[in-house]
Amino acid sequence: MTRNLIYTQAYTPYSNKPKACVVESRKGSSYAGVRIENISYPLTIPAVQAACCICLSEGQIPSKIYVQNKELDQLDFWVQEFDLEVIVTDELRFENTEDLTLPIDTDTVPLSKLKILLEKAVTPNSDFPVSAMLFTKTAYFEGVNVEVSDWTKGLCAERVVISKAITAGITEFERLEIHTKKGEVSSPCGACRQVIAEFLPYHDIILHHADGTTSEHLSIDLLPFNFKSTSLKK
Ligand code: THU
Repeated sequence: MTRNLIYTQAYTPYSNKPKACVVESRKGSSYAGVRIENISYPLTIPAVQAACCICLSEGQIPSKIYVQNKELDQLDFWVQEFDLEVIVTDELRFENTEDLTLPIDTDTVPLSKLKILLEKAVTPNSDFPVSAMLFTKTAYFEGVNVEVSDWTKGLCAERVVISKAITAGITEFERLEIHTKKGEVSSPCGACRQVIAEFLPYHDIILHHADGTTSEHLSIDLLPFNFKSTSLKK
């Protein structure tokens, strides 16, 4: 993956200022992250948060971060949280980043995969694991929730999986499936519904509840009358 490609994958229709970075884990795996804006600006996922949460959701600990410059939102927080070595370079090492796209095959039984995936959730604060699978026609991405010392810097499973797909350059989706084994129902939070509305506006959202039942929803029904304005796009 070339540097230019990954910058193109940043979703920045409101600022027109693409941002990207690469996080290397202690074990030497590399995870890219891009800026993912939201029409409700405060819900924007900074590139550093995306890369670190993707790395953590894969069971890896961030160790180094490659950036083109230090003008990246949340950089200081994540550097401090994981004592990251910051490497400023024009030659961002995107070519070795992990490909987190998984092919759909006969083994792809969402609920059984979602149950196994719960083990990967990073939930030191809540002990409330959530798993998500985001499907395209031919592939899917896996995500879990990630918590860090500052509760506001972690990401829900839904936003982790959307971050992975956007970073991989995928923007056309079929459906999102979510599971939690605790709680009365599996149900995306308000912030995730807003992010879902941006990327899966009229898509199927399949919720696998703790009691073994499943419910299917159209994303627009989960956030009716949501905030839209063409005047915000640049
Ligand atoms: N959580 C999700 O992953 N998805 C949701 O839609 C609801 C909340 C996570 C975030 C946090 O790690 C934990 O559940 C408790 O809020």
